[in-house]
Amino acid sequence: MKVLIVLDHPRRDSLTGAVADKLAEGLKAGGHIPEIADLHREGFDPRMKVEDEPIWGDRTQTFSQELLDQQARVDRNDAIAFVFPVWWWGFPAMTRGWIERVWNQGWAHGWGRMKQSKGLILGVAADNAPSFAKRNYEPSMKTLMLTGIVHYCGIEEGRFELLYDSLTSPEHQKILLDRAFELGETFETSVTEKQAYNPLKS
Ligand SMILES: Cc1cc2nc3c(=O)[nH]c(=O)nc-3n(C[C@H](O)[C@H](O)[C@H](O)COP(=O)(O)O)c2cc1C
Repeated sequence: MKVLIVLDHPRRDSLTGAVADKLAEGLKAGGHIPEIADLHREGFDPRMKVEDEPIWGDRTQTFSQELLDQQARVDRNDAIAFVFPVWWWGFPAMTRGWIERVWNQGWAHGWGRMKQSKGLILGVAADNAPSFAKRNYEPSMKTLMLTGIVHYCGIEEGRFELLYDSLTSPEHQKILLDRAFELGETFETSVTEKQAYNPLKS
């Protein structure tokens, strides 16, 4: 399976960057072909452009070349994985803007749906699991990201996972990196959560 890893971090040598690399390594070990989309290094502009703002219902609308190139890269892959640091209990603005611009009408929603079969959402968080649980952050994020974006846009099987305590110790960071490798290696069987969700009907 060809898997596009969408990496969002201002520093390539960040833990998040290393998580993306380990996920890619694991995917290769599992017989898959990873491709990393490094949004910061490629200078993607996450701000919505006038020409990319959907004109609702207009099937003749043409989008910017940058958007079309981004969609083509997704389209040459069978699955997608987001790797990002949790910022303010959500995606950083870069990933958020990438989805806002690229996952556009007619391709991801509206009269078109995405062709990818699996979507992994893998966030790196400084806080710990009990603290997230106490405030319901994890189910809230999962609903917004997995249900509201991945499943909403037609990707049938998904997984939402957070790598907690990211800043505690090098030993713990190794455990998180090992987990990223494992998720890549077992991608086929780990990214399988389904939701019967037709946003137009329910
Ligand atoms: C702007 C900003 C917002 C953050 N918000 C959160 C947050 O809501 N929850 C959390 O657990 N960590 C939060 N963090 C901490 C990051 O998740 C942490 O720095 C990251 O996991 C460390 O990995 P990195 O070295 O790859 O950045 C935030 C960090 C920044 C810079």
